[in-house]
Amino acid sequence: MRQASIENAFGIENIVWRDIAEPQPGPGQVLVRMRAASLNYRDYLVATGSYNPKMPLPRVPLSDGAGEVIGLGTGVSTFSIGERVAGTFMQSWLTGPYRDGYGKSALGGAIDGVLAEQMVFGTDGLIAVPSHLSFEEAATLPCAGVTAWNALFENGPIRAGETVLVQGSGGVSVFALQFAKMAGARVIATSSNPVKIEKLKSLGADWVLNYQQNAEWGKAIAKAGGVDHVVEVGGAGTLEQSLQAVRAGGKVSVIGILSGVSGTLNIASILHKHLRIQGIYVGSRSMFESMNQALSQNQIRPVIDCVYDGAQIQEALRFMESARHFGKIVIRL
Ligand SMILES: NC(=O)c1ccc[n+]([C@@H]2O[C@H](COP(=O)([O-])OP(=O)(O)OC[C@H]3O[C@@H](n4cnc5c(N)ncnc54)[C@H](OP(=O)(O)O)[C@@H]3O)[C@@H](O)[C@H]2O)c1
Repeated sequence: MRQASIENAFGIENIVWRDIAEPQPGPGQVLVRMRAASLNYRDYLVATGSYNPKMPLPRVPLSDGAGEVIGLGTGVSTFSIGERVAGTFMQSWLTGPYRDGYGKSALGGAIDGVLAEQMVFGTDGLIAVPSHLSFEEAATLPCAGVTAWNALFENGPIRAGETVLVQGSGGVSVFALQFAKMAGARVIATSSNPVKIEKLKSLGADWVLNYQQNAEWGKAIAKAGGVDHVVEVGGAGTLEQSLQAVRAGGKVSVIGILSGVSGTLNIASILHKHLRIQGIYVGSRSMFESMNQALSQNQIRPVIDCVYDGAQIQEALRFMESARHFGKIVIRL
């Protein structure tokens, strides 16, 4: 069977496919024929060496994938042959709050990822996917979907009628938009691209600002009444504006670093407005389960921009680098 890996050095050009022996499921393990994987911005950072320059190589890339069960180790009773499944982002975070150490089980980072034709998972690290979703759609859920879910529904959940701010039109933000609309919230979005602005509106965004044409977008949002929740994926370049946009008592979920990780920050509004700033690192298996129930109940489908073949992994990562995508980029396996 074939497996992709970042071979001897970081760099998109150093991702190669190689033939290896078919893996066998040991006791308590499940063998999955992977059918699709999806890209997250993190996968781009991992491949280029920016995520963890000390990461040992070779490493199988990508955290998010879905497929069907083709083998069961002894003692496995919770999965069956043919079942459609996805791996969880952190294989060891099952439920409850995040704890030190869970990050050491993150696919496509601390441990090998899912860009392979076959993969062995422990039963804890595998979850059934909603029946209305294709493999391509299901492959978008483990990181981007669960992250957006965690930000909006797990600690201080949004309520119908509240206002949520999402930034840009990437994977996490489009999921957050869909989930917020599902919950009856009003959504304000930002984007740099006029075509994407129309797409965000067609998904239900109530107001979309062009953050390149209006650098003070946070102030503009505050002037119009502000938001209750911010799904903050921009990082250093957007946090200051997010703190302006959020209302007194509101919550900012700090998730992304699209515009960098460090900068100067005026913290006055955090205390003056009694804000809650919460860090988000994807989510647990039980959050994934709750999200799947909501996806099924509301028949929500992830938004996929394009699907590449496995052999085109380098082109797919280059497309992500260009930031021309809307929603998710998927790899068919
Ligand atoms: N903490 C976690 O657990 C977690 C989980 C998932 C992702 N993340 C992080 O969250 C971020 C988003 O990830 P993703 O996979 O959704 O990314 P993505 O799909 O690559 O998102 C790309 C889009 O983000 C928008 N963008 C870029 N710079 C921006 C800025 N300064 N302000 C507003 N929007 C901007 C652009 O949208 P427009 O073209 O519309 O302008 C761009 O197309 C990344 O930093 C990623 O590492 C963190």
